[in-house]
Amino acid sequence: MKLLITGGAGFIGSHVVRLFVTKYPNYQIYNLDALTYAGNLANLTDIENVPNYTFIKGDITDAKFLDDLFTDIPFDGVIHLAAESHVDRSITDPMSFVMTNVVGTVNLLNAAKTAWAGALEGKRFYHVSTDEVYGSLHNPEDFFTEETPYDPQSPYSASKAASDHFVRAYGNTYKLPVVISNCSNNYGPNHFPEKLIPLMIHNIQTNKPLPVYGKGENVRDWLYVVDHARAIDAVFHTGKLGETYNIGGFNEWKNLDLVHLLCSIMDRKLGRPEGTSAQLITYVTDRAGHDLRYAIDAHKIMNELGWKPSLQFEEGLEKTVDWFLNNQAWLDNVTSGNYQTYYEGMYVNR
Ligand code: NAD
Ligand code: TYD
Repeated sequence: MKLLITGGAGFIGSHVVRLFVTKYPNYQIYNLDALTYAGNLANLTDIENVPNYTFIKGDITDAKFLDDLFTDIPFDGVIHLAAESHVDRSITDPMSFVMTNVVGTVNLLNAAKTAWAGALEGKRFYHVSTDEVYGSLHNPEDFFTEETPYDPQSPYSASKAASDHFVRAYGNTYKLPVVISNCSNNYGPNHFPEKLIPLMIHNIQTNKPLPVYGKGENVRDWLYVVDHARAIDAVFHTGKLGETYNIGGFNEWKNLDLVHLLCSIMDRKLGRPEGTSAQLITYVTDRAGHDLRYAIDAHKIMNELGWKPSLQFEEGLEKTVDWFLNNQAWLDNVTSGNYQTYYEGMYVNR
């Protein structure tokens, strides 16, 4: 098996690459990544010299590069994770999301379609997507199922929805052997500190304000990243072609409650009196078009593929905090220099 994993230097991709390289020593794993601000080879130093692992630097927006790559290496499978992934950045710069998430995905589909023409047996194109394509839930009893109509609300989710549609269209039109999964919010080691949980950990540690958007009432459904990687393994190997699998941990948290929990874990770990870090909480202008609630119904993958999360949230959060506290050099590296985020017309140094 020659397996191409795109976006393998990013947060989730690095956990997927590690799982596949170590669990399947007879597979050749090729990690294709453009190393954008979110891609970091330091996420993979523990496996970089393993014989069944190869890193390829390349950009999925470059169609010729992909066609040449698929000609050079006869891939049997693709797990596609490369993407622009941060909603706030998509609000500032939607076009880079169109380029990577839509054009890049179609380039990859075309490369696979050409390379696999007439020899589709045993091939598999797996597209990794997000629950954000379903939009925002307002009724507390509702969950996203695989049948929920798409209703993306942000430029990020619109670009992921478009990529999902193209993947299904290639499955239908060209009979490309495709499978898709849509997962809820991930957290864990190597999470880039522009996203909620690692940003809060970093800011608590450095005594910076903790920017809570709006009133902090938005709800997200959190899953430990290694459990997502295990689900990707299950879908890649046992998912039915043409199907979609929703992945989530039945673990909903209001942002403000989550930030309070993180503050209390951090107070304990840093030896600060309980309540110290919570004083850093700062309410800031809400994100434009902020989705209220995401919640995944994960019964299909649990019942059909036998996957279930391995960690309770509190345990996963403790492990995550420990990882960040024990990997200061990783955090210093990605937060050093002029790392800034454009937010609501202002540069906010985080
Ligand atoms: P990330 O931003 O941490 O990593 C993305 C990776 O893709 C980086 O290594 C980056 O260098 C690479 N990349 C970006 N543009 C590229 C291009 N043009 N060519 C090649 N490589 C490129 O993202 P993540 O959080 O690890 O998410 C990975 C995938 O999982 C994405 O498709 C995302 O939509 C999906 N997803 C993420 C979450 C989440 O909570 N983070 C949840 C569900 C689904
Ligand atoms: P994020 O980690 O960006 O993931 P997503 O937008 O894809 O769900 O944000 C998670 C939630 O936390 C979301 O409701 C926005 C909110 N949030 C804040 O309140 N403050 C922040 O600084 C960030 C980055 C996010």
